[in-house]
Amino acid sequence: MMLKMQNAFIEIAIRTMAEADLDEVLAIENDSFSLPWNRDHFLDELKSGYAFPLVAIEQEEAIVGYICPRLLLEEGHILNVAVRRDFRGRGVARLLVERVLDDCRAGGGTVVFLEVRQSNKVAIDLYRKIGFFATGRRRKYYENGEDAILMEYDFTDNEAGDAV
Ligand SMILES: CC(C)(COP(=O)(O)OP(=O)(O)OC[C@H]1O[C@@H](n2cnc3c(N)ncnc32)[C@H](O)[C@@H]1OP(=O)(O)O)[C@@H](O)C(=O)NCCC(=O)NCCS
Repeated sequence: MMLKMQNAFIEIAIRTMAEADLDEVLAIENDSFSLPWNRDHFLDELKSGYAFPLVAIEQEEAIVGYICPRLLLEEGHILNVAVRRDFRGRGVARLLVERVLDDCRAGGGTVVFLEVRQSNKVAIDLYRKIGFFATGRRRKYYENGEDAILMEYDFTDNEAGDAV
């Protein structure tokens, strides 16, 4: 995908996350969350047979975002997604989430779940625009007493034409 930034076009590609990416990934993670994942969380995803973590890279191969999904039988889960601050608002997260939906669909998934803080309006809006809908709430799920909103993307509801 081409992104326009300060009068220049930048090419964004997506590839599988590798251990060598973790310094850059952790820098974005620490800048993005009040309770960031540590290196071991990401290493677990890299080792898990169900997980397929991805990074978005710009043309110089710097990491500008990442996503940690899992697909277990028919159920996809998005555990983590973040975009480097200076690349936000340009469609990188949408690109990552849509790529995960494509991969889950191709792998036999029927539904993809995620949890998001109820205060994270930007993320909730992003997921809604992509086709997720809120299905529930986990009360006081987060360390600060905040609720989690459960959201899901259902392939059969969203792509009814494919079901025939
Ligand atoms: C949430 C996050 C991943 C979004 O990444 P992003 O690359 O900026 O998102 P996108 O550019 O793909 O935005 C997609 C949509 O979200 C909306 N959006 C993105 N940033 C926004 C902002 N700052 N204000 C308002 N809306 C915004 C836009 O409406 C956009 O819609 P469009 O595709 O119709 O234009 C990013 O803000 C981030 O890393 N936040 C910190 C970590 C986090 O909260 N992760 C999610 C945890 S569940």
